[in-house]
Amino acid sequence: MTSLRTEVDQAVAVLTGADVPSPRADALLLAAHAIGADRSEIERRMVLGGGVEPDELRRLRALVAERAARVPLQHLTGTAPFRRLELQVGPGVFVPRPETEAVVDLALQGLVGPGGTDGTSTPTVVDLCTGSGALALAVADEVPGAHVTAVEVSELALAWAARNIEVTGLAVDLVAADATTPAAGVPELAGLVGRVDLVVSNPPYIPAGMVPLEPEVAEHDPAVALYGGSEDGLAIPLAVAATAAALLRPGGLLVMEHADSQGQTLPRALAATGEWVDVVDHPDLSGRPRATVARRAP
Ligand SMILES: C[S@@+](CC[C@H](N)C(=O)[O-])C[C@H]1O[C@@H](n2cnc3c(N)ncnc32)[C@H](O)[C@@H]1O
Repeated sequence: MTSLRTEVDQAVAVLTGADVPSPRADALLLAAHAIGADRSEIERRMVLGGGVEPDELRRLRALVAERAARVPLQHLTGTAPFRRLELQVGPGVFVPRPETEAVVDLALQGLVGPGGTDGTSTPTVVDLCTGSGALALAVADEVPGAHVTAVEVSELALAWAARNIEVTGLAVDLVAADATTPAAGVPELAGLVGRVDLVVSNPPYIPAGMVPLEPEVAEHDPAVALYGGSEDGLAIPLAVAATAAALLRPGGLLVMEHADSQGQTLPRALAATGEWVDVVDHPDLSGRPRATVARRAP
């Protein structure tokens, strides 16, 4: 039987040669997926000199070859961690990113902060551009009793979001709609106009023509999830913010993720509409401008 340690070392070498950003972590996670164990069990078996069965070896080598071709790790394992959840992802849906988890922190702070709902009530929350359902599901998970609606335009993404709602068993209403069109014209959203406490959104925001360098993003995240529809990338985010302004009650909160380069332009553009007050930008854990928080003007 082939030694697991030798096989993982070989996988690390292959992934390093393909410029995969975290080759050892990925090799361990792929071994875990191929063998049907968790990562710590793989590390334990490596220390104890364990081996790999032939069918496990075939699976692992096939996965490593795909990862070396820069297929996203999450497409190979079929899951992406997000906050306390393990979401199902694959072709056709944006893979939720760790930095987006900060949007949930800001949302939670806003719900219990001054002017927010008091944390014991049941806030009404809308996630515009939900993708896999990441933000909507995390809020539903972490704010018990919240009434959460998730809006998405892509049919493929809607299918993944529906699957994640089913698998997690969390209460989220999924709406197929274009989040840049007036909410009053969308039957499932019309009843929420002026009543929502919190809108979270991670819209497409990459400036047009700025193709991401990582093949995992450029070749596997859907274009509809990436590009913000204008040279500065803000056309879709600002149209989504206009929908948020219509949905929110006076004093309701918007938390919107943006690109590093939009830490000043997005807050300025929001403030200029006159629809928002207390517009503040926040960095993520690595110190990069990441999300704008704003309150609906009375
Ligand atoms: C950057 S991804 C974010 C997905 C998810 N919120 C997350 O953080 O992982 C943007 C999502 O917005 C969706 N989208 C793009 N334009 C949209 C629109 N006009 N209305 C609704 N959803 C839209 C895309 O299909 C994609 O799922």
